[in-house]
Order: sequence, then C-alpha cells, then structure tokens
Amino acid sequence: MSMSSQDCGQVREGFPRPFPDTPTNVFEQLSLKGKVVVVNGAADGIGLAVAEAMAEAGADVAFWYNSNDAAIKKAQELATSHSIKTQAYKVDVSNADSVQKNITQVVKAFGKIDVFVANAGMAISKPILEQTLEEYHKQMTVNVDGIVYCSKFVGEVFKRQGFGNLILTSSMSAKIVNVPVDQPVYNATKAFVTHFGKSLAREWREFARVNIVSPGFFDTKMGASPGCINEAYRMSSLGRQGHTKEIKGLYLYLASDASTYMTGSDVLIDGGYVLP
Ligand SMILES: NC(=O)c1ccc[n+]([C@@H]2O[C@H](COP(=O)([O-])OP(=O)(O)OC[C@H]3O[C@@H](n4cnc5c(N)ncnc54)[C@H](OP(=O)(O)O)[C@@H]3O)[C@@H](O)[C@H]2O)c1
Repeated sequence: MSMSSQDCGQVREGFPRPFPDTPTNVFEQLSLKGKVVVVNGAADGIGLAVAEAMAEAGADVAFWYNSNDAAIKKAQELATSHSIKTQAYKVDVSNADSVQKNITQVVKAFGKIDVFVANAGMAISKPILEQTLEEYHKQMTVNVDGIVYCSKFVGEVFKRQGFGNLILTSSMSAKIVNVPVDQPVYNATKAFVTHFGKSLAREWREFARVNIVSPGFFDTKMGASPGCINEAYRMSSLGRQGHTKEIKGLYLYLASDASTYMTGSDVLIDGGYVLP
C-alpha cells in the first residue's frame, strides 16, 4: 500500500544515516589495502582479470578455481609481485558443502571477507529442443545453485561481520535474447543472477552492498563462439569483443570505497551491443 503525504512527512528515527567514513581522494578510495577479496572462476578469463585488479589495488586475494589449477601459480606470482597474501582454493560452486567449508576456510586464513566476487559460470549453448535435461541441469547447478550457495554462505559471514560486498557476474544475455545461437537456458540462468542480486541488495541493506556486472562478449573461453562471432562484431558498436583488461576497473570500482553509494545496480559493459 502507498503511503499518504502525511505518513511520508513523519520524521523517521535514525535518518538520514551518516555518510561513510571514507577518503575524499578518489585514488585513496580505490585502494583495497587491508581488504580481503574472494574471486571464483579466478584461473582464467574475466575472473583472473578481476583477481589481478584486486591484487594490483593491494587486496589480499583468495583465488577459487574448479578444474584449472593454473590458479595456484597465478596466486603465488601475484603474492610476490604485489606483496600481498593470496591462497588458491579448489571449489566446485555447485557443491553446497564445499562452498560453505571453503568460505569458513578463507575466514580462518584471512580473518574476514570484505568482498566476494561470484563470477564462475558455464554455458551449453543450444536450443531447448536440442538440449538434454542433463545439460539443462548442469547449467542450473553452476549458474543458479552456485550463485545461491556462494551468496547464502558468504552472506552469513557478512551479517556476522556487519559489513560486506557481493559482486555477481551476470551477462547481457540476462536482458536480451542473444542471437543467432539459441541458448534459452543460459540466458534464463543469467536473468536469475541479475534479479537475485538486486533482491539481495534490498535484503542485506543493513550490512552489505550487492551489485551485478553484465558483460557483453569478452574474448575468453566463454566469449563469442564461431557460430556467433560475426554477429558479435556487427552488433557491438565498437566492432569487437572486449579484452579482459577492459573490465578490471569496473570490478575494482564496485569492490572499493569509490562505490559506497551503489547497491542493487546492474552495470552493463558490452561495447554498445544492446544499444540498437
Ligand atoms: N566472456 C563472455 O563473453 C561473457 C559474457 C557474459 C558473461 N560472462 C560470464 O563471465 C563469467 C566468467 O566467464 P569467462 O568469460 O571468464 O570464461 P571462463 O574463462 O571460461 O571462466 C569461467 C569460469 O567458471 C569456472 N567454473 C565453471 N564451472 C564451475 C564450477 N562448477 N565450480 C566453480 N567454478 C566453475 C571455471 O573454472 P575452471 O576453469 O577452474 O573449471 C572458469 O574459471 C561467467 O559467469 C560467464 O557466464 C562471460
């Protein structure tokens, strides 16, 4: 029910809330020194670029990987080159017990979690009439269950701590029916991610921020496939896929004190793909 003008005029105790005690200098705001960041899907692609961004900004970083153990070496290299603490963890995000256990392990090793980047994802891009139910379930377990498990268990930590910051990797395919390759299940899993993230931003308003990044095509293993690469170049106003170095700044911004007034936002970064 809408509030009346009289109701709206009532002074609410505790409001306005104070501005955050953060630096005014924007480069100081962007520093992550002293922060602990978890990134999943961190062995390669967008997740690796994000983990690098966090390390370059001074954060201690927990690298979560699933099958690609290149994450172990990468974590060690970044620890040395940036004088930070890192550790690699093997976690299948579709396994709730493993997610819960490893979140506990990170808190034990690092003392807290300031930022969790839930970035892992997968696609089996086929029309539903050609997709097996097994393929459907696989995408749901990683892209939907995985996001729910990571969010739920890190949310418990955030609530206990009284602070936290969750960043979810969704996709422009959450907003558009991506063509020419039909992939209704992938598109729908990402629509879930976006709306779930917005809903959490409201649910967690007292203790954590939640934002969503929706990439267009980026040049990674999950980037444009041979079947859609020409359409990817044609539809993107910039005429190409994104390089992963071009998404680092956005995740850093969302992870940092530069974005303290931002929650529940879904940020599209797609080279102008969805403009027309
Ligand atoms: N590239 C694009 O054009 C694009 C566009 C929109 C959205 N995205 C989204 O961006 C995210 C990152 O993708 P990417 O482009 O960087 O491709 P990528 O390099 O293939 O990254 C996908 C990551 O997800 C991880 N992963 C897959 N299944 C997992 C599981 N069961 N448990 C834990 N981790 C799992 C993989 O880990 P392992 O390799 O260790 O198995 C991998 O690191 C995905 O959510 C994707 O949907 C990508």
